[in-house]
Amino acid sequence: MKNKVSIIGAGMTGSTTAHWLAEREIADLVLVDIVEGMPQGKALDLLEAMPVVYKDVRITGSNDYEATAGSDIIVITAGLPRKPGMSRDDLLTANAEIVRKAVDSTLQQSPDAIYVVLTNPLDVMSYLTMKVGRLPKNRVVGQAGVLDSARMRAFVAMELGVSVENVNCYVLGGHGDEMVPLTHASNVAGIPLDEILPPDRLEAIVDRTRKGGGEIVSLLKTGSAYYAPGVAVAQMVDAILKDKHLIVPAAAYLEGEYGLDDIFFGVPAQLGRNGVEKVYEYKLAEKERLALDQSAESVRQTTQALQSLVKV
Ligand SMILES: NC(=O)c1ccc[n+]([C@@H]2O[C@H](COP(=O)([O-])OP(=O)(O)OC[C@H]3O[C@@H](n4cnc5c(N)ncnc54)[C@H](O)[C@@H]3O)[C@@H](O)[C@H]2O)c1
Repeated sequence: MKNKVSIIGAGMTGSTTAHWLAEREIADLVLVDIVEGMPQGKALDLLEAMPVVYKDVRITGSNDYEATAGSDIIVITAGLPRKPGMSRDDLLTANAEIVRKAVDSTLQQSPDAIYVVLTNPLDVMSYLTMKVGRLPKNRVVGQAGVLDSARMRAFVAMELGVSVENVNCYVLGGHGDEMVPLTHASNVAGIPLDEILPPDRLEAIVDRTRKGGGEIVSLLKTGSAYYAPGVAVAQMVDAILKDKHLIVPAAAYLEGEYGLDDIFFGVPAQLGRNGVEKVYEYKLAEKERLALDQSAESVRQTTQALQSLVKV
């Protein structure tokens, strides 16, 4: 039987995720949105692109959750994106209601699905998904780290004039400006970044990575990034469906790892057919540990704000 992936929210990130996924030919796709005709139109357009790339993928759009029945994976991108000057946390109230509805409605149709969450504030929306759905922790993962690490890889490759293929970067922590780009574990062909780059250039790259989302928001003026977030989700979906046991930086539910408890937080997470199979722990330098604790405090505050808004 073919895999089925439903994407809730057919806006910029939802439709771009569908695009990247369709090219991989790994699942039939369903796009759901509240805007009438829009998911149907985007799905039909993408379906009509498939003969050109020789891919057999069924792609449908709907305003109705029944279309998602029997999905292996539900990707949640429904919600408002940031406007210039807004933090991801500013989206909390509006998006909590949207995500809660999306989880409730999709679970009725696909009781065994794994959830990949993209809606911001990411770590807290992942937490909400797990709690609202009463899901085991392996069935919810949030996309942030693949994107943040890819941004850092792009900046390092540009700085050194090397192929992105040689650059491995790892960004941990919450998906906010306090995220923690690791400068020793990240490397170029095995050489740690803090050995290959002068401190001022490395600091500039760390800073640009942290503010990478905001840089795009202020250039676009309306909406936020979608190509890189979409392909990041596609990589995670691919790893789950193919049972790859791929370790990616992603928001996972923590129960003691990194000394943190009862929050979703960006950590190296192994993805396979059962979702999050394992969380890996780095030995962190003192500076990194402090930065991670600061990022965790920020996620915890937003999680508490959520708890006061919604009963979870
Ligand atoms: N985690 C990340 O790395 C990351 C990256 C980019 C964007 N985001 C977040 O993803 C979310 C979506 O961003 P976007 O750029 O796609 O925004 P967008 O406005 O282009 O699309 C959002 C879509 O959600 C739909 N929607 C709203 N309420 C809905 C509901 N109840 N049911 C179904 N659909 C509904 C809207 O109609 C819209 O089409 C935002 O919260 C944004 O901040 C996260």
